[in-house]
Amino acid sequence: MVKRIAILGSTGSIGKSALRVIESLGSDYKVAALSAHNNIKLLAEQVKKFKPQVVVLTNPEKLDEFKKLLGNTQVTILIGSKGLSAAGSDENVDVVIAAIVGAAGLEAILAAAKAGKILAIANKEPLVIAGQLLTKIAAENNAKILPVDSEHSAVFQALQAGDAKEVSKIILTASGGPFRGATKEQIQNATIEQALAHPTWNMGKKITVDSATMMNKALEVIEAKWLFDTPAEKIEVLVHPESIVHSMVEFVDGSVIAQLSAPDMCLPIQYALTFPHRVKGITNHLELEKIGSLTFEKPDMDIFRALKLGYQVAKTGGSAAAVFNAANEAAVEEFLAGNIKFVNIVELIENCLEKHSVKKDATLEELLFADKWARNEVKECLNRVM
Ligand SMILES: NC(=O)c1ccc[n+]([C@@H]2O[C@H](COP(=O)([O-])OP(=O)(O)OC[C@H]3O[C@@H](n4cnc5c(N)ncnc54)[C@H](OP(=O)(O)O)[C@@H]3O)[C@@H](O)[C@H]2O)c1
Repeated sequence: MVKRIAILGSTGSIGKSALRVIESLGSDYKVAALSAHNNIKLLAEQVKKFKPQVVVLTNPEKLDEFKKLLGNTQVTILIGSKGLSAAGSDENVDVVIAAIVGAAGLEAILAAAKAGKILAIANKEPLVIAGQLLTKIAAENNAKILPVDSEHSAVFQALQAGDAKEVSKIILTASGGPFRGATKEQIQNATIEQALAHPTWNMGKKITVDSATMMNKALEVIEAKWLFDTPAEKIEVLVHPESIVHSMVEFVDGSVIAQLSAPDMCLPIQYALTFPHRVKGITNHLELEKIGSLTFEKPDMDIFRALKLGYQVAKTGGSAAAVFNAANEAAVEEFLAGNIKFVNIVELIENCLEKHSVKKDATLEELLFADKWARNEVKECLNRVM
């Protein structure tokens, strides 16, 4: 049966890889909807090539220019976040690949879950903010959540070796980013270029900065908590600079099951699309003899404070994760705009978490309020010190 796929965020790093995967899988996989925010030139090219029925432009200011680029190409254009939710829940869509960056993808993911879609989620921030709500809505509507984040895809694959009750811990691996082994002093004045120079993965800017602060791993601990219904105490992080073991699961008998592959997001994207089957893909196969050795080390949580905070937030739950994520998104934006130092990112997050009164079992409205409050608090904090 043909799988009709919506890619939310098709112009990004994950979105482009998803299109390469779909192209390689052949006629059983069809692009039904695409979306972008600013990159209308690439979006128009993608529409012409993949011929979806629907395209979503989340930034309405670009609409006139986008229509000109499309010429007489036949496609239904939807606008803004409502358009995104409509595309994600469209009856002509079977699988939604969530590849938007940040909280902007939240409402569309919830709409797709309500509509009972297969959700291939790369966009981790919505799971961090509203994991409890999202997993509940998905369960109530028979929506299936399949992780695309390489670590969570690895855990998902490893979990198939046993029963959920037999898991003793989940081990998420981390590349360590560009500042692995650096001292506090070296990181203090890290430049944008240094933060964006990831040693093993080629990704969008926001997640690359998150890897440099290890905020990415902190978000992934919370993501794993919701995806695999596992408390933070049973989720360990190990730095593995080769990025070959994408994560592991330890079972009660002491067996550790790992998933290994080249660091290429096409593989977890493909696995989510073809699950429960495996097919030949476009990812290069490993030649372990060339890699030689694989190393693992404990992360330094005094240097990478975001990771320590992530564990605290995972344990606290409620609205804390929404604040944690939003403060980070706002701070990373400021860092990439050249307005703050690298070290200020975690300080701004700490400030927001200290001031926030956590709401347990928060509703969607309360989570969105907490998100907005934290973004505003980052701005106000910068106004106070500048
Ligand atoms: N890249 C990776 O290898 C990787 C690995 C694991 C997980 N992830 C996760 O996957 C997600 C996407 O990451 P990425 O690296 O692919 O990001 P990216 O390259 O920055 O792409 C982001 C996508 O989201 C769109 N977008 C940006 N702001 C938006 C907004 N306000 N509303 C709607 N759409 C918006 C962008 O559109 P325009 O291009 O038009 O701006 C683009 O299509 C993130 O949550 C990330 O943590 C990524």
